[in-house]
Amino acid sequence: MIRYAFPDGFFWGTAVSSHQVEGNNTNNDWWEFESQGKVKNKEISGNACDHWNKYEEDFQIIKEMKNNAFRFSIEWSRIEPSLGIFDGSSIEHYKKMLSSLRNREIEPFVTLHHFTNPIWVAREGGWLNEKTVDYFLKYVEKVVKEYKDLVRYWITINEPNAYAFASYLMGMFPPQEKSLLKMITVLNNMVKAHAKAYEIIHEIIPDAMVSIAYNVMIFDPINPSSFFDKKIQNFLDRLYNLIFLETILTGKFSAPFKKENIPYAKNTIDYLGINYYTRLHVGFDIKTFPFFVKLYVPENAEKSDFGWEIYPEGFYKVVKRFWEMVKKPIIITENGISDAKDEKRPKYLLSHLIELHRAIQEGVKVLGYLHWSLMDNFEWAEGFSQRFGLIEVDFKTQERRWRNSGKIYKNISENNGISDELIEKYLK
Ligand code: BGC
Repeated sequence: MIRYAFPDGFFWGTAVSSHQVEGNNTNNDWWEFESQGKVKNKEISGNACDHWNKYEEDFQIIKEMKNNAFRFSIEWSRIEPSLGIFDGSSIEHYKKMLSSLRNREIEPFVTLHHFTNPIWVAREGGWLNEKTVDYFLKYVEKVVKEYKDLVRYWITINEPNAYAFASYLMGMFPPQEKSLLKMITVLNNMVKAHAKAYEIIHEIIPDAMVSIAYNVMIFDPINPSSFFDKKIQNFLDRLYNLIFLETILTGKFSAPFKKENIPYAKNTIDYLGINYYTRLHVGFDIKTFPFFVKLYVPENAEKSDFGWEIYPEGFYKVVKRFWEMVKKPIIITENGISDAKDEKRPKYLLSHLIELHRAIQEGVKVLGYLHWSLMDNFEWAEGFSQRFGLIEVDFKTQERRWRNSGKIYKNISENNGISDELIEKYLK
């Protein structure tokens, strides 16, 4: 018996990004960063999952998983290796990938920017430089014209908020800046890039469905009755969860250091892509200069290998909250857990889907769920140490092995819902 049935035509899929799975993306800023020994254990993405060559095998796995959707990204540095020069063989390669998905009746969700930039873009100042907006749009126009008959669902930018945060405020990702002003500048440029890309995509494909993949965090105050902890919570919520999204809903960019009317940004999503993983407890700490922000995960919380708190209820809260704000259909573009032994993932998967189901029951229009990730891959600054895959990858042999969670996910996709058996087995 199916206990939690999902709507007809629901998209069940997984997500990956080019740099994390393809291998040998030698022409982008991440490759450069890795080559300088900046990733944990000095790892480099190298061949990654060799997905560039093994995509047929991987798509076959997706088919066996009974999925009807797959999210991946196009690598800008392959398509446009230097300014204004487009590489025909890479364009053809992605065309083959898209046709191969279509032949298997798998709906592609295509991301145009997922954290990496061509080296030539980085050299010109990356997303701090306004000109990058125009560069990006030329690339977008080219790609969308090439693939217009193969792709309906587009994601312009993956997690502009997380990208700006990690690369320009926290100094974790290239170019390792630590400046609130720079972070805001990058967000501002990315909003403009998204809004204009939205327009371009719709000129070429009138019925396209366009969004961003938006990383949403739950921030809870460490001490709910502390005035200062709540101030910090509000500050982070605005900075991380709201500024970008508000701009593409209202056309008004309102951030520390910068307020700007960007009328053409108003109403530039057709659905909202949500990436949800975890919650952070936040508070005021006089010792952490310059922002006095303490980020904290309670000792006794259940955590992933990454140390991220497992908080399924947050998924429901996030989906409800952003549905109220956006009033457009939602697609979960990422949700998943780093868990090499696959001990916690079955429960993570089921409990999160049940929370999503609860939101759907209460009237939220959710069109699909794309799990992060299909397979273990190159987890950015953490290298290969964090394992998010439903499929385990042996990076020495490139062998793919099904994790139990992969089989569970197959069962869910096949039934378009969660059965009593799965609940009995994994949630009791
Ligand atoms: C990113 C992925 C990443 C995942 C897990 C998301 O923020 O879009 O690229 O692998 O989180 O950290």
